[in-house]
Amino acid sequence: MNLGPVVKPAPVYFLDSVEPAPSLATQRMKICCIGAGYVGGPTMAMIARQAPEIEVRVVDMNAARIAAWNSETLPIYEPGLLELVRETRGRNLHFSTDVKGGIKAADIIFVAVNTPTKTYGVGAGRAADLRFIELVARTIAEHANGPKIIVEKSTIPVKTAETIKDILAANSRGHRFEVLSNPEFLAEGTAVADLQAPDRVLIGGERTPGGEAAIQTLVDVYAHWVPRERILTTNLWSSELSKLVANAFLAQRISSINSISALCDATGADVEEVANAIGKDSRIGPKFLKASVGFGGSCFQKDILNLVYLCENFGLPEVASYWEGVVKMNDWQKARFSAKIVRSLFNTVAEKRIAVLGFAFKKDTNDTRESAAIAVCRDLLAEQARVVVYDPKVPAAEIIQDVAGKGRDEPRLTVAASAYEAAQGAHAIAILTEWDEFKTLDYSRILAGMNQPAFLFDGRNILELANMRALGFRASGIGR
Ligand code: NAD
Ligand code: UGA
Repeated sequence: MNLGPVVKPAPVYFLDSVEPAPSLATQRMKICCIGAGYVGGPTMAMIARQAPEIEVRVVDMNAARIAAWNSETLPIYEPGLLELVRETRGRNLHFSTDVKGGIKAADIIFVAVNTPTKTYGVGAGRAADLRFIELVARTIAEHANGPKIIVEKSTIPVKTAETIKDILAANSRGHRFEVLSNPEFLAEGTAVADLQAPDRVLIGGERTPGGEAAIQTLVDVYAHWVPRERILTTNLWSSELSKLVANAFLAQRISSINSISALCDATGADVEEVANAIGKDSRIGPKFLKASVGFGGSCFQKDILNLVYLCENFGLPEVASYWEGVVKMNDWQKARFSAKIVRSLFNTVAEKRIAVLGFAFKKDTNDTRESAAIAVCRDLLAEQARVVVYDPKVPAAEIIQDVAGKGRDEPRLTVAASAYEAAQGAHAIAILTEWDEFKTLDYSRILAGMNQPAFLFDGRNILELANMRALGFRASGIGR
């Protein structure tokens, strides 16, 4: 087991503070992370592994989630995560519901709570809902018993640090707070690998002596395992904005190739060949050019809409509508896929069984937030199809709730225990998540159990369509 270099704890100090700095030379540095979700849990587990002399506590008001983090069935599925947690939990990594205690004990407090799109009032459907962030800021101010470094890990609109500082200052009771922005760039499904070897770590802070000192303290935490040249420091606003822009650029590439997939469908060009040809240009590069049924996940859409809202607020409607196009193209791509299924099945899917293979928004995660599968299932159900879903990691109850709504049932929607069971008696199968197991299914066996003609819609372009057609499927992909 390699725990990485053991170095002396970096001191927390406040050059322009009237408050004495905690004497960390003699005590272990303590980190608390508020929010034990997809970001808070894995990120803190990695810090705990790489900096064994730092005490890391992850707190959350969701008791069930914390109980799961303390069990052998973690609340999220990520390759390598269970091993990472087993290695550190109980040593220098702790999960607890004691938010106040965590705040009191910590030198550095990471804020990794959710920042969903607002569903009410001004900015509904676009702006970020900052109520969880504000609540956390108030809780920190109320329970802090000394100087703290507050680190924004959540993705938030530019200038949120200003709000946090305001709330903290108004309720500080004389304590000194430094606020840093340290957005997270991990992708689900590869979180552990991304945290282990990040392309970069971004830390934004104020260019005051206190701000610089806080930045240095956080740099020293990451420097336990991230090469210094990959740790970028910027001002607060650049850091906050860079996170939104990174996601917007990534999503834009997917919408760009998806727009071209429609042109490929119309012309007979193959989008995989086009992506390969343009990706060889080193200025364009090969990544994020996989045409698909559409991007999902909790962040791309939310963060772009947030960017759009910011642009509108700052009087930049042209910029807002430019970026909004990325989300509109994605919505169109999902609807285009459903429409193609209906059209191919002789313009009616009423009472036909459609097997949906994959429900998570991408492979190697159990996360279904904004998954393209939700939209496609709803479209097919609206056409009165009988939809049978199989996903290797998403529980049946989650699938039903995502499609039907909380506490509701959808009689035409069922969940199968395997791809073979889902496809039995189906008129069509639709692959909506690129799980590796779907590449190696026995498609002859699947075909034999289906209604003829049997249709296959590869929404992730993971199969050799020529092979599927040779077997006897009427097979199509995205843009090919
Ligand atoms: P999540 O919903 O999985 O986890 C957030 C957790 O915060 C929840 O468990 C919730 O109970 C807890 N929480 C909320 N308010 C709280 C409070 N006042 N006190 C204690 N706990 C509280 O969210 P996530 O996916 O981990 O995302 C967190 C943030 O990170 C978001 O801003 C997101 O945009 C950003 N982000 C997410 C990813 C990702 O891959 N999911 C990647 C990069 C950045
Ligand atoms: C994305 C970013 O990649 C992370 O850097 C960022 O930290 C994170 O959002 C966040 O802020 O939450 P994530 O959504 O977890 O990560 O996963 P991605 O690998 O980016 O995939 C997003 C969606 O795009 C998935 O539905 C995926 O299937 C789809 N996708 C991805 C494509 O359709 N084509 C591609 O070429 C790549």
